[in-house]
Amino acid sequence: MEIAVFDTHRFDREALERANVRYGHRLEFLEPRLTSATAALAQGSGAVCSFVNDRVDAEALERIAAAGVRLVALRGAGYNHVDLAAAARLGIPVVRVPEYSPHAVAEHAIALLLALVRGIPRARDRVRDLNFSLEGLVGFDLHGKTAAVAGAGRIGKVAARILAGFGCRVLVYDRTPDPEIAALPGVRYTDLDEVYRESHVISLHVPLTPETHHLLDAAAFSRMRRGVYVVNTGRGALIDTRALIEALKSGKVGGAALDVYEEEEGIFFRDLSDQVLQDDVLARLLTFPNVLVTAHQAFLTREALDNIADTTLANVTAFERGEPLVNEVRAADVLGPALEGEDGPRAAPPAV
Ligand code: NAI
Repeated sequence: MEIAVFDTHRFDREALERANVRYGHRLEFLEPRLTSATAALAQGSGAVCSFVNDRVDAEALERIAAAGVRLVALRGAGYNHVDLAAAARLGIPVVRVPEYSPHAVAEHAIALLLALVRGIPRARDRVRDLNFSLEGLVGFDLHGKTAAVAGAGRIGKVAARILAGFGCRVLVYDRTPDPEIAALPGVRYTDLDEVYRESHVISLHVPLTPETHHLLDAAAFSRMRRGVYVVNTGRGALIDTRALIEALKSGKVGGAALDVYEEEEGIFFRDLSDQVLQDDVLARLLTFPNVLVTAHQAFLTREALDNIADTTLANVTAFERGEPLVNEVRAADVLGPALEGEDGPRAAPPAV
């Protein structure tokens, strides 16, 4: 099947081409992100392959449907950027890669945390400038500290294990506790109240939903331990960034390690080094010495890219052959039956 791959970067082009040796699809690599304005580029393709900062809203979906597209294949786990109700209305299944390497993301969260706690980026800058002073680089041991994991699914579980391995007391907040994680030495499920009150470190691994939008807002920060370190490799809008900036200014938050940012769309994944940054909130965030930002790269390991490419192409092949879509994201499952339309959940489409 011809697949229009939007927002193509060299790293995913290479991985998709490597995996496609086994699948034989026709891959059309496109640089623009998928939005209603670029949807027409999918003309002639049976499927679009979408990345995390595309805007797959109702208008974009109507336009790709008009262009002949019959499948949206997300090359990632998150689907908060897709209007699933509109896709269901148009009869376009949405498939994703639910798991590709929870280790990649959890390890990046911990890498950010360690780098921030020990002042590694500042130390590196200094040493390159032949400044070997240690002033201002005092960190703290993670061993013996209380570290919270909010959302202990695939990624959060790995993060909890790593933090327990450091000798942290690990508090886990999740609406569905897992007995295997609860049985780990030093790990305990609890409520948000205790997470905020007790934790020296809070790492976010819940998905972005209406319920978790701005989970960390001014009220949440006010309930936290003074000097808490916040790590976010989930989604940007889990944190109210303006409230985070105030909490950093007051010292309530001692450090923030962020791989995601709520207004990252149109900024992250792009080289803007010769431009004036127009986002004043991000610009302010980048001025703090105790903030470390990476541009949504937690997933970016060789293992994860190969898994993403393989599952994405397998998803398209299953659709093409009329096989069950095991990785379909159904509006009814996510949003409730009323939003999927009158036909209810669909069977896999016929072979085409
Ligand atoms: P998952 O679905 O395996 O786990 C999510 C966990 O959060 C589940 O245990 C669920 O019970 C819990 N949860 C959901 N809503 C909740 C709520 N309101 N309150 C308490 N707990 C709640 O997801 P996975 O694979 O661990 O991924 C987590 C998130 O990480 C993704 O949704 C995505 O946004 C983000 N992510 C970021 C990447 C990056 O490169 N920065 C890469 C991949 C995922």
